[in-house]
Amino acid sequence: MSSSRTQIVVGLDIGATKICAITGEVSADGMLTILGSGLAPSAGIRRGVVADIDATAVSIREAVRQAEENSGVDIESVTVGVTGEHIASLNSHGVVSVNHPHLEITQEAVDRVLDNARMIVIPPDREILHTIPRWFIVDGLDGIQHPEGMSASRLEVDAHIVTGTRTYIDNVLKSIHRAGLGIDAGGVVLQPLATADAVLLPAERDLGCVLVDIGGSATDVAVFTNGAICHTGVVPIAGEHVTRDIAVGIRVDMEEAERLKTDWGTALTDLLDRDELIDVQLLGENNATPIPRSILAEIIEARMIELFEKVRDQMRRAGVEDHLSAGVVVTGGGSRLHGTDQVAAEVLDLTARLASPVQETGMSEALNHPRYATAVGLTRIAAANLDVFDLSGSPSQGGGRKKNGIFRRIKRAFGKR
Ligand SMILES: Nc1ncnc2c1ncn2[C@@H]1O[C@H](COP(=O)(O)OP(=O)(O)OP(=O)(O)O)[C@@H](O)[C@H]1O
Ligand SMILES: [Mg+2]
Repeated sequence: MSSSRTQIVVGLDIGATKICAITGEVSADGMLTILGSGLAPSAGIRRGVVADIDATAVSIREAVRQAEENSGVDIESVTVGVTGEHIASLNSHGVVSVNHPHLEITQEAVDRVLDNARMIVIPPDREILHTIPRWFIVDGLDGIQHPEGMSASRLEVDAHIVTGTRTYIDNVLKSIHRAGLGIDAGGVVLQPLATADAVLLPAERDLGCVLVDIGGSATDVAVFTNGAICHTGVVPIAGEHVTRDIAVGIRVDMEEAERLKTDWGTALTDLLDRDELIDVQLLGENNATPIPRSILAEIIEARMIELFEKVRDQMRRAGVEDHLSAGVVVTGGGSRLHGTDQVAAEVLDLTARLASPVQETGMSEALNHPRYATAVGLTRIAAANLDVFDLSGSPSQGGGRKKNGIFRRIKRAFGKR
């Protein structure tokens, strides 16, 4: 339970297949301890966006109720992730002159240069979700992470800007509001940024890597080079597409297709003994029918190759292909499909690593699974952003004071932490 010098944070991952809430307690010195979690099958989400606010709110409420029950805290507000094909990102440059009397870079100058980088033309139906400084350039000297306090007459920034469709983001917020919740310190976070926070090693960000989060309905992609994010995107293929292909290809229902995928599926046809048979429950048949396991593998392999080819196309378009010495890091529930890392390595021609979320203090074994990477990352981001509040103050429920502020988007300069 929280003492007077701690605060509660909550990460809420609204996924296509599940909604997961993780509660954490942050001590006055900023240390995060995971308290508990709640999980509910998701409803009302289609291809990463809310298609039914009421149904989504019911699922959110259920995940949050469970998390309250097993962590012993009341949840009033959450840090939430957003994703979907509507997300777009670009790199932008900002420049300002430093007008401090002693030419010292103040927080005001940093805010101004970020505002300058944000001066881009975006369609009226879109809004800027994040402005992430990749590095600052101080009187021509680049690669600076913390320019505050330095002397200079000119400050520039290379920033990564993420935009999303306003109505899609509002519908996520409305679902949260309808579930009786507000938004807390971490605010609204692009899911791949949260996932990256939970799984990437600092060396991977430095050397360059591509993070691929294979979910139910979509695969999130984030590319890091020189320690900073330089590309984010979404590929509209993920675990549910594989399941549907199996259902159609073998003529089984979706439940049986999911079972076949998780129990017998592999993305590698080469490794299979061509004579191996598995029992399947064909549509309309009473008895199980044996089929070659290689048929299942061929269906899966084709889809997984297509998925990683689309990731490769994104990397080519972003022009980062030659800067990924640390390779590809694969996570998300869909990465549990046998052979995923090998397909990733082959198609992208990179070394591949399967990743689960970092082990935080107090985290149960159950959360040590790639499908919880985003939720763990959101909780970590909520904790890291608490510095906007007074940690030594009275006990507070994360952003409880913002209970009625669901439309108060906190567009924090993510990555500045
Ligand atoms: N052992 C496994 N083998 C193969 N696939 C698996 C396994 N476990 C989970 N999956 C797949 O993972 C997918 C769900 O992953 P995850 O929980 O990361 O998605 P989500 O976050 O709900 O969705 P999204 O990120 O698209 O919004 C499902 O398609 C499921 O079939
Ligand atoms: Mg997900």
